[in-house]
Amino acid sequence: MTSHAELIDGAAVADAVRAEVAREAAALLATRGITPGLTVVLVGEDPASAVYVRSKEQACKEAGMHGETIRLPATTSQAELLAVVDRLNADPAIHGILVQMPLPKQIDAQAIIRRIDPRKDVDGFHPENVGKLLIGDADGFAPCTPAGVMVLLERYGVDVAGKEAVVLGRSTIVGKPMMSLLVNASATVTVCHSRTRDLARHTAKADILVAAIGKPNFVTAEMVRPGAVVIDVGINRVEDPANKKGYRIVGDVDFTGVSRVASKITPVPGGVGKMTIAMLLKNTVRAASVA
Ligand code: GUN
Repeated sequence: MTSHAELIDGAAVADAVRAEVAREAAALLATRGITPGLTVVLVGEDPASAVYVRSKEQACKEAGMHGETIRLPATTSQAELLAVVDRLNADPAIHGILVQMPLPKQIDAQAIIRRIDPRKDVDGFHPENVGKLLIGDADGFAPCTPAGVMVLLERYGVDVAGKEAVVLGRSTIVGKPMMSLLVNASATVTVCHSRTRDLARHTAKADILVAAIGKPNFVTAEMVRPGAVVIDVGINRVEDPANKKGYRIVGDVDFTGVSRVASKITPVPGGVGKMTIAMLLKNTVRAASVA
């Protein structure tokens, strides 16, 4: 087969979303004197988290929003972190609160998430927002990564209604909300995971295949239906002595092989990853506009 998939340019769509967000933020300031504010809370020194958090702060500033990071030591207690959340909940200048995951072992992440005011939960992790997503109530917040996937599908003219969508992975951050968003958009959705038998039987029927399992190059061309739209949410570090850093980032999809059978595909990097922060800004502006 010599055909080649169209590349879904996540970086370009993310730039467009961020430009829209910047316009909305400017309008909020002009009409109501509100500068949308996002606070990211980072506990400990996980290097990957530190990179994400810096880019979130930078993206806020570029969109004309107020972005601030609270850095706390890895030894922070649950009570101390709850007190920080309480303070941010009560601060009218803060419209979005994001507590970076994962948290150190002594802290129960669910207890923290439940403490965040659902109206400021721009991650969409609070049970109230999770429930709203499931019942299709659009006034909640959907988690940023799967929400970003829906925007990519829309901007690339992929009509979801009636399609067979297969989601690989059942995480709370990606797989389950992805399932809800696709089903709300009238796809027929199958969720596969580590206990799924005969995975390729499921993936072979997918018109839309979303991979979010965290296994490098897991999805190969034989698993993909010719003409499928393939969305790769994976961000995996693999050793690469040829690279200065000693590693490189690959997705969950064998890009070279799968791009020969798919009709559209997201690259890694430059695909879904960039959309996550763009959607976070979008959620924050919406939180500010209804505050
Ligand atoms: N860690 C990795 N992705 C995310 C995310 O989307 N939100 C939060 N809070 N933590 C993360």
